[in-house]
Amino acid sequence: MEIGGRSVMITGGCGGIGLEMGRKFAAAGKEVLLVDAKIDAGMALAQENPAISCIQCDLSSAQDIEHKLAGKSIDILINNVGISPKFDAAGQRVKTWTMTLDQWNAVMATNVTSFFLCTRLCLPGMMARKFGRIVNIASYAARIGGYQAAVHYTTSKAAVLGFTKSLAREVAPYGILVNAINPGRIETPMTRDVPKEVSEGLIPQISCGRLGVPKDIANVALFLCSDLADYMTGTAIEVNGGLYVGP
Ligand SMILES: NC(=O)c1ccc[n+]([C@@H]2O[C@H](COP(=O)([O-])OP(=O)(O)OC[C@H]3O[C@@H](n4cnc5c(N)ncnc54)[C@H](O)[C@@H]3O)[C@@H](O)[C@H]2O)c1
Repeated sequence: MEIGGRSVMITGGCGGIGLEMGRKFAAAGKEVLLVDAKIDAGMALAQENPAISCIQCDLSSAQDIEHKLAGKSIDILINNVGISPKFDAAGQRVKTWTMTLDQWNAVMATNVTSFFLCTRLCLPGMMARKFGRIVNIASYAARIGGYQAAVHYTTSKAAVLGFTKSLAREVAPYGILVNAINPGRIETPMTRDVPKEVSEGLIPQISCGRLGVPKDIANVALFLCSDLADYMTGTAIEVNGGLYVGP
């Protein structure tokens, strides 16, 4: 399996799925840039692996993205950052009828607008080099609604799928392929606030009989950026062990 390009940028790169993708792309010989608000875990990985570097950046801020990420030469962009607030400050489940506009906007800024802004920064270089791979991380929640995730999260992930399709059509003539992955339930810090019995209660609905782990997603990201996927664009791959099987 050949993976084109030299440099990879992974947003939310120091979280559960992002770090594992960083490890795998570095093992495949790529220079990996992990972009995250909290970079401790990424810095620890970078110490073991000189191909990996980190930038601290608030991806919900257009200014921070522009200030810290402009001018990077990126061949593979993994738009992976995401937040899924499930509880408010008082510990109550976030419901549509109690959600504030600020709560809604915070999710959209991180989960959708950062994808647009990071993509916009990377496209001119990709177009000039006539090569690019963009992988957008959405969610099974976009297909079936969230079990625990609130409406802002699910809406943001559906938006990522629309973004993926339109962008794919636009940039294919420049040698840039754009695809999405819809992870199922993956064990990472994001799902730690879901009670164990609730997560494990999903297992009977998962045909493969287990919750997902970050490498399940990282392997598919690697595949989408390889020559094995040279004829794929505008699609979304379901990686959920059979939690959702449908059109
Ligand atoms: N874990 C799951 O079950 C699951 C399921 C479906 C989709 N996903 C998606 O997979 C992607 C990765 O999720 P994960 O499970 O690894 O979550 P995670 O919480 O482990 O990692 C997310 C990372 O994003 C970073 N981040 C959050 N807000 C940021 C901001 N404003 N600026 C910069 N960095 C910020 C966090 O610091 C964290 O390192 C997300 O898009 C998520 O929605 C996860």
